[in-house]
Formats: sequence, C-alpha cells, structure tokens
Amino acid sequence: MQQINVKPASGKLGILTPGMGAVSTTFMAGILSARKGLSKPIGSLTEMGYIRLGKRTEKRNSLIREFLPFARLQDIVLGGWDIYADNAYEAAVNAKVLERDHLDPIKDELSAIKPMSAVFDAAYVKNISGPNVKTGKTKYDLAQMLRDDIKNFKKNNNCDRVVMVWCGSTEAYSQVGAEHQTPESFEKAMKENSPHIAPSMMYTYAAIMEGVPYVNGAPNLSVELPCMIKLAEDRGVPIAGSDFKTGQTLMKTIVAPGLKARMLGVAGWYSTNILGNRDGEVLQDPESFKSKEVSKLSVLDTIFETENHPDLYGDVHHVVKINYYKPRGDNKEGWDNIDIFGWMGYPMQIKINFLCRDSILAAPLVLDLAQFMDLASRAGFKGIQEWLSFYLKSPLVKPGLLPEHDLQLQKLKLENTLRYIGREELINHLGLTYYGYDESDASKIGN
Ligand SMILES: NC(=O)c1ccc[n+]([C@@H]2O[C@H](COP(=O)([O-])OP(=O)(O)OC[C@H]3O[C@@H](n4cnc5c(N)ncnc54)[C@H](O)[C@@H]3O)[C@@H](O)[C@H]2O)c1
Repeated sequence: MQQINVKPASGKLGILTPGMGAVSTTFMAGILSARKGLSKPIGSLTEMGYIRLGKRTEKRNSLIREFLPFARLQDIVLGGWDIYADNAYEAAVNAKVLERDHLDPIKDELSAIKPMSAVFDAAYVKNISGPNVKTGKTKYDLAQMLRDDIKNFKKNNNCDRVVMVWCGSTEAYSQVGAEHQTPESFEKAMKENSPHIAPSMMYTYAAIMEGVPYVNGAPNLSVELPCMIKLAEDRGVPIAGSDFKTGQTLMKTIVAPGLKARMLGVAGWYSTNILGNRDGEVLQDPESFKSKEVSKLSVLDTIFETENHPDLYGDVHHVVKINYYKPRGDNKEGWDNIDIFGWMGYPMQIKINFLCRDSILAAPLVLDLAQFMDLASRAGFKGIQEWLSFYLKSPLVKPGLLPEHDLQLQKLKLENTLRYIGREELINHLGLTYYGYDESDASKIGN
C-alpha cells in the first residue's frame, strides 16, 4: 500500500464562500461563537466525531481531530463574495436564522467580514439583484479578478492555505456543452463571453487555477464539468460536489437503504417542502428548481438498484416539490409520504414530518467539507474526492461509475479514507476484523 505523508495543518486556513447568505453566515457565526466557547460545533464530524482504530478488542477510539491534523478553529480565517454589500453580521440578521442573542456577542468579528464584489449574471439567478458586482470586458477578465481576490485574501490574512465552498444561490439548470470539454475550450469560451459560462464556473476555474480545493454546495453545474475535472487533475487540486445533503434528502438516504435491506417494496415516494428563505425564493424560478429537482430525484434509483429489483422498485413514483412560503423563513418543513409494500404485496405507509432548520443543518457541512478538503490537499490527493459523498446530494464520481447514496456506506468510505491517510488498518464491516477475529478464527463468526 502506498504510504501517505500528510503535511501538518500549520498556520492559517482561509475558508472562502462565494455567496454570503443564510448558510454561509450561519456557518461563520457558529465558528466564531465556538471559538469563544459560547456554543458547541454540533453536527460537525471534524470537531465532535470519533473514529474506531484497529480491532474492537484494542479499544482504541480517537477523536477524528486528534487522529489527523486539522486546522484549529482559532486558525480559520473567513471570507467570501456576495452581490449584496452587507457584512456578515448584517447578512446574518437579514437571513433570520440565528437570534440576536447569539449574533450580538460576535457582532464585531462578523461585521469585519465584508463580501468581495461578486461575479454575477442575472441570466443564471433570476429572482435577485444587487450592487456589489464586478464588471469586466470578458468572462475571462472576470475570472482573473477572482484569482486576484484569492491571492489578495491569502496575502492580507497571512493564510497558509485556502479552500472554497460554494454557498451561492442555485443557478439555472444547464448542460455540458462543447465549451466545457477541456480547459482550453473553457478559456476560449470565457474570452468570447459565451452565454454557456455561468458565474459559479468562473469561481471554480479561479479556485483550481490558484490551487484552492473547491466544493460545490449547490446542484447547478460548475465543478462537475469535464474541463474542471481535467484542470483539477492537472494542477493537483482536490474537488467535490454537488449540493449539500441536509433535510429531506438526508432522511431519504437514511430510510431508503433500510427498506431495501429488508427487501420491502416501494410503490411511491412523495416529498414536499415549504420554506421561506432567499434560497426558497430563488428556487421558485423553474430553471433554478430544475437543477435542484434533478439532484433530489437521482438519489432513490441508485439506492434501490432498480434494474436488479424490478419487482420491488421497478415502478416507484417519485415526486419532489419545493414551495416558497414566506412565513416559514429558514425553518423548512418537509413531508414525505412513502407507499411501501410487504409480504404478498400488502401495502403500508410511512409518513415523515421533518421540521428542520435548513442552514443549521448545512453549516457544519461547510466546516467539515472545508477541513476534509484541506486534509485531502495536504495528503496529496487530487481530482474528485468521492469519499466526501457523505455530505452531498449528487456525489461527483469518476466517469462511468455510479455514485453511492447510502449514508452508512458513505460514512464507511469516509472513515476508511481517514484510516488510510492515518496509516491505520482499514475496517471492512463485512470482514472478520470487524468482529475482532483473525482470519483463522472464521469458525467463530456466527457465535
Ligand atoms: N441550506 C441547506 O440546507 C442547503 C442544502 C443544499 C444546498 N443548499 C444550497 O446552498 C446555497 C446557499 O443557500 P442559502 O440558504 O445560504 O441561500 P441564500 O439565498 O441565503 O444565500 C445565497 C447568497 O448567494 C449570493 N449569490 C448569488 N449568486 C452569487 C454569485 N454569483 N456570487 C456571489 N454571491 C452570489 C446571494 O446574493 C445570496 O446572498 C444554495 O444554492 C442552496 O440551494 C442549501
């Protein structure tokens, strides 16, 4: 096995978010609050999670952050871009996710985070407009400005390393075209101001060119393009996407594998949501919703392995709706009605009513993804980081492969990657080591 040498997490880590709305400012506030000991980073594996090492009999259980080197919260520098000029405190107040009691003790630190001017195109996000936007002759020039922003941020804040996590609005649905095939065709298209180059793609390009690991937290196409995958491989930069896996889809990837494990059939799965934040407003535009719908619908097919189980999952009626309903703000409510069937085809129903908080669920994902991407970079990993599928609704995988959606299998893959980086024995939960036996003890497996 190739030995991994992870560089230490010395110095400061910059975390940049294109988009400083509800998710981003909730993430930032949580970091600043935890740093002061005012709250706990709940939901974050890198802060609170443990990993088992070695055989069960060894009783070695380590905090993940003690097992491998990560930036301390004190060493994280926060920044971002937005089309609105509000600082992170003002944006967090507007987002109405966190209460003033939680925001005011960190007001000074949040107010100091001012958004850099954004690269924006109203053709890709229809329902919002703002003044804090760059102008340039070509899209290529705009991408160069983003590269300068990254360089300046790194220098001015004395950062050793920077990672970028897209927390901007969901852009309109787009498809891979000729412009997106190679780094050369992409640069040419930017120089020609092609309408097929979205702002998120320019941020991705700028990040990879600056050696900055990039995660796409939204479902629209950016890092998933062949040109970006090639560029990331060529320049040795880790990338991951797409779309944070939080409320309803998180539940789906917990429940669906359980039903399949018991060979229970599914006739239909109807999911609907109401939410009233800006994300919900943007998703009212059918083009932006299409990006989200594609991402949300893809999950069940792969979990159910429809082609192998036509009798159980051959005809699942899967519907996903998102309704903008202002009074609910960020406190999304999701309903799932699952029509299942069992022995001799008898029907049953499961109802899930999840009263969640969108940004509260997403914020720790931003931290974990940033920390793990930084770890990946220091471990010398490049290109698509499939082991971070755990956090994503539409995991980006190597061409020709199917993504893994089952949350528990995703977690196993994540943990084994950490063990691999830390030069520990991998744990195969189907293998004998899981039970604490040597291969020679196979006869005891059923005991
Ligand atoms: N909250 C969740 O649970 C969750 C889950 C999955 C995905 N997401 C995605 O995360 C993203 C952020 O969600 P949110 O609730 O914070 O939305 P939000 O609307 O509160 O914030 C998005 C911000 O991005 C800004 N923006 C838009 N285009 C930009 C650009 N080109 N450059 C810089 N800034 C830009 C907007 O002005 C806005 O302030 C959305 O795409 C959303 O779909 C959120």
